[in-house]
Amino acid sequence: MRPSATALALSLFCVHGYAFQLPFTIPFLSNTPQNPLSTAFLPVAAPPNKVAIIGAGAGGSSAAFWIAKAKERFGLDVEVDVFERNDYIGGRATVVYPYNDTELEPIELGASIFVRINKNLWRATEEFGLERISFGDDGDVMGLWDGKDVILTVCTTGGGYGGWWDTLKIIWRYGLQAPRRTEALVKTMADKFLYLYGSSAPRFDNLTGLADTLDWTPVIAQTAAEYLEAQGVDRRFTHELVDAATRVNYGQNVDSIHALEGLCSLAATDASSVKGGNFRIFEEFLRRSNASVHLNTNVLSLSHDEASGAWLLSTSMTRSALAYRAVIVAAPLHSSSLALAPETLLAPVPEQPYVHLHVTLLSTPSPTPNATYFGLGAGKAPTEMLTTYQGVRQGTTEEPEFNSMTYHGKVQRATGENWEGADGDEWVVKIFSKKRISDEWLANMFGKVGWVLRKEWDAYPVLPPTTSFPPVKLAKGLYYVNAFEPFISTMETETISARNIVDLLLRDEFNAAICPQKAEDAEETPLTESADFVLGWDC
Ligand SMILES: Cc1cc2nc3c(=O)[nH]c(=O)nc-3n(C[C@H](O)[C@H](O)[C@H](O)COP(=O)(O)OP(=O)(O)OC[C@H]3O[C@@H](n4cnc5c(N)ncnc54)[C@H](O)[C@@H]3O)c2cc1C
Ligand SMILES: *[C@@H]1O[C@H](CO)[C@@H](O)[C@H](O)[C@H]1NC(C)=O
Ligand SMILES: *[C@@H]1O[C@H](CO)[C@@H](O)[C@H](O)[C@H]1NC(C)=O
Ligand SMILES: *[C@@H]1O[C@H](CO)[C@@H](O)[C@H](O)[C@H]1NC(C)=O
Ligand SMILES: *[C@@H]1O[C@H](CO)[C@@H](O)[C@H](O)[C@H]1NC(C)=O
Repeated sequence: MRPSATALALSLFCVHGYAFQLPFTIPFLSNTPQNPLSTAFLPVAAPPNKVAIIGAGAGGSSAAFWIAKAKERFGLDVEVDVFERNDYIGGRATVVYPYNDTELEPIELGASIFVRINKNLWRATEEFGLERISFGDDGDVMGLWDGKDVILTVCTTGGGYGGWWDTLKIIWRYGLQAPRRTEALVKTMADKFLYLYGSSAPRFDNLTGLADTLDWTPVIAQTAAEYLEAQGVDRRFTHELVDAATRVNYGQNVDSIHALEGLCSLAATDASSVKGGNFRIFEEFLRRSNASVHLNTNVLSLSHDEASGAWLLSTSMTRSALAYRAVIVAAPLHSSSLALAPETLLAPVPEQPYVHLHVTLLSTPSPTPNATYFGLGAGKAPTEMLTTYQGVRQGTTEEPEFNSMTYHGKVQRATGENWEGADGDEWVVKIFSKKRISDEWLANMFGKVGWVLRKEWDAYPVLPPTTSFPPVKLAKGLYYVNAFEPFISTMETETISARNIVDLLLRDEFNAAICPQKAEDAEETPLTESADFVLGWDC
């Protein structure tokens, strides 16, 4: 589901301090000063009809949106507060501007791509009137670097993945069977994935159960390399080209990542992003949900009040604890710094390691990277360089110094306004790496460099084969969206996880649901269900 940019692919509340307010945020930030000594928990008789969402990324913002759908449909009376410690909406989906100049086209700093079968995001762009821009039609040359040699170069003209998939060079190197078989496996996986949007999509309270329902247990229990080998895919193809896809998309090698996520790395049909930034979808989710959004507000602790049954939440912006009937955690639990007594949980949540990724963005007047670095002599180096670990496996070289390096078009400036070091065109380049990329390294690779921005992310979970996942429901009234991430980690799947969790929450706590409840003996999905049907949107 997630290809690379290369197409390979959310009264009593009191504020002390500055809280950034959104143009569309309304009633919540009270100006009434409260006794500064008052830090006692509020005595609550019964939990109020309020839900708190921690995190305003894809997961949290969509959770607010799904609750709003239930409010719209059933007049459900529930207030939603979304707490976000950043000063922006989007979490790992956010943009920056070259030279911090908002006149220029923004560039994704985190999640960049979604695809057509990502039905929630796709539908959102349509309903919200957001323009999509597609990837992979730019006629770039993609190279595959093993740390010593560029072992393959292919032209991406004609639609990215699909375009070069069939090229003679691929067939020459890997034969016809390996790409074809892999393509068929990706298609089978994608078809099953679509089941998650049908009216009879499974509700799940654990991901092991979901994997089982979708017959994905063998897929997640093996590495992508093991799985493809068992399916008769040529090992060289897997270890080079599929490796490139898992490395650019998840910073992990094909022989360490589980096969479900490995296949997702290859599902790249109609790879798109939102013009102006993918975060705009998440802003719209929140705007349309009428939830109260509190930016710059760190949730510090969560505790359960046995007497009332309420969850009590303390934040960096409030003196008193806030009481909720239910809480949705929509952030990776272990990096959320949330104080939560283990005994309040139904089951322990194992520590989940994340891939620490360095993203380096820069601009340069150099139209290609340094060909000499890549041993290409007088040749031109590809403007899209992916990497494989295969040279290391074979003992011929060290690991490449980066995971991927991709040109992302020109800095579009008014004529004559170029940075003085650039005498003509200037390009934006994005580099993913395991380590910091130094200024010296950049100078060697590009000669002149204009703007540089570095960001470190805990980007996605480390995804080894597994059949055990974090609990979806952490305790009564406490739900965990990001339990889905070690299964599949994308913007879209976080919206699916949020939909499932909101439905569980509404059933458990409000005797409600996102969609009208089907009778227990209801028929299977009608065959007439439209291909455009999307669960949650169309019910
Ligand atoms: C470089 C990079 C590239 C990626 N590429 C893609 C891609 O192309 N396509 C794709 O689909 N996915 C991609 N991903 C993955 C994608 O970004 C994530 O799967 C998805 O955005 C996660 O959304 P989320 O809402 O679950 O988490 P997040 O976006 O991480 O949101 C969680 C939010 O919770 C907030 N928070 C945490 N703790 C607290 C607290 N205690 N109090 C208040 N707020 C708190 C955080 O500030 C954060 O904003 C990429 C990720 C990275 C980093
Ligand atoms: C949001 O608020 C507007 C204006 O008060 C109202 O028309 C709309 O129905 C509300 N939507 C939801 C989902 O609560
Ligand atoms: C970018 O510009 C904004 C608005 O002018 C400013 O608040 C911010 O600090 C700048 N960021 C950087 C990294 O210079
Ligand atoms: C997980 O879900 C399946 C159904 O999807 C269910 O049969 C099983 O009991 C659940 N396991 C746990 C531990 O909750
Ligand atoms: C290109 O890379 C080579 C090898 O790393 C280096 O010797 C050379 O100086 C670089 N060229 C430029 C113009 O920086």
